[in-house]
Amino acid sequence: MRRRNWTRRQFVRNTAAGVAGASLFGGFATASASGKEDAAKPAVLGGKPVRTKPWPRWPRWYPKTDEPRVLEVLRSGVWSRKSVVEEFERKWAAALGAKRCLATTNGTHALITALRVLDVGPGDEVLTTPYTFIATIDAILLNGAMPVFVDVDPETFQIDPSKIEAKITDRTRAILPVHILGLPADMPKILSIARKHNLKVVEDACQAHLAEIRGKKVGTFGDFGAFSFQNSKNLPIGEGGALVSDDDALMDRAFSFHNFGRPYGTMVGDVSGQYVIVGTKCRTTEYQAAIGLAQLRRLEPETRLRHQNAEYLKSQIQDIPGILPYRLVDGVTLASFHLFPFRIDSKAFGGLSRDQFLKALQAEGVPCSGGYRPLNTMPYLKDAFTSRLFQAFYSKDELDFDAYVERNRCPANDRVCDETVWLPQYVLLGTRQDMDDIARAIRKIREHAEEIAQA
Ligand SMILES: Cc1ncc(COP(=O)(O)O)c(C=O)c1O
Repeated sequence: MRRRNWTRRQFVRNTAAGVAGASLFGGFATASASGKEDAAKPAVLGGKPVRTKPWPRWPRWYPKTDEPRVLEVLRSGVWSRKSVVEEFERKWAAALGAKRCLATTNGTHALITALRVLDVGPGDEVLTTPYTFIATIDAILLNGAMPVFVDVDPETFQIDPSKIEAKITDRTRAILPVHILGLPADMPKILSIARKHNLKVVEDACQAHLAEIRGKKVGTFGDFGAFSFQNSKNLPIGEGGALVSDDDALMDRAFSFHNFGRPYGTMVGDVSGQYVIVGTKCRTTEYQAAIGLAQLRRLEPETRLRHQNAEYLKSQIQDIPGILPYRLVDGVTLASFHLFPFRIDSKAFGGLSRDQFLKALQAEGVPCSGGYRPLNTMPYLKDAFTSRLFQAFYSKDELDFDAYVERNRCPANDRVCDETVWLPQYVLLGTRQDMDDIARAIRKIREHAEEIAQA
């Protein structure tokens, strides 16, 4: 079986539908040799894989308990946004301790809406991290604002707060931290910088459902928090998203924007039937909300299990030479571990490259991928800079792509992108023995690293 490094999207697409390991990662049925010698030999060199049992499936769906509400909605014929969406919004807000929630079509539109409502637009700079999914940056660019990349802390994988202030200019309007991989960014530090410089804060919590710092959920620190309920996410609906905030005026405006600019809440006067702001439509449906309510019931225990298993797995692998484990920022009381990350120091790992490691770990029956590539140097930026919108609002120097790339260098992130290994969240829904299997596979690869590197 041909093995390869999957991009995150390929990885999700290819594993979400079924029992990931068995079909994709191991060729288990053909690993027929037994005996001690084969068990010791790395699977990538023809030995027996450590792991042949399937991993937990994702997404989870329990027809008996999950389907009645969905069927009720389908049979009602009321499919556009109504009471079930409102119920989901109330429950998601309550789960986070937020005053308000607005359900959207997806996390991308939640982010676009947040920046739009805060009037972050052409001529403004938004500070963000290069270690994220493209949607974070698209939301900035689609509003006509300029992303300014702040390097990451390689241990936490998050935006490095100590590097933010150096990037602030008189055009900076907002900070867009991303709780990437479901590990919280350092919100107390980020908020204190934002307050000092009078900046707006939009949290991209699209991967960080229920993660918290000192008991406060991420997504509730800034002016807005944005979530995604896409298929791979810890709260999967297929597609879906949400914005949360405690600010009624902002949320009323967000509601209006997501509903063609129709007046809502405090925006209602004697203007019914009129359109009060420029809007779009990114409303979610009643049946999506019904799926979300089913998923929400199990999110809390699943999140605690992922956190416990992640910390246990980390304890089992952190002393292996060449393994660089994640570090949670101060005060994290719960992380959601949408992905379990660690880095490989190739030199200390017997010269085995990260990509060779990925192939070897996949062969041992452990699903894994290499994660993001640096977003601060890619061609989509050039596309934005050559648009008439950007040319109208930014100087020639600001739109000089090579100079932009130079200004936005993030060497720590480059290293992170080269060294990181991700395990998908669903493996963390397994047992302690499952975590032991992963640790055993990594130790086995370490023991044979030189041999695999030279093969
Ligand atoms: C960090 C991050 N931001 C934004 C998004 C966009 O969410 P969606 O796919 O729901 O539009 C995602 C989802 O993939 C994400 O991982």
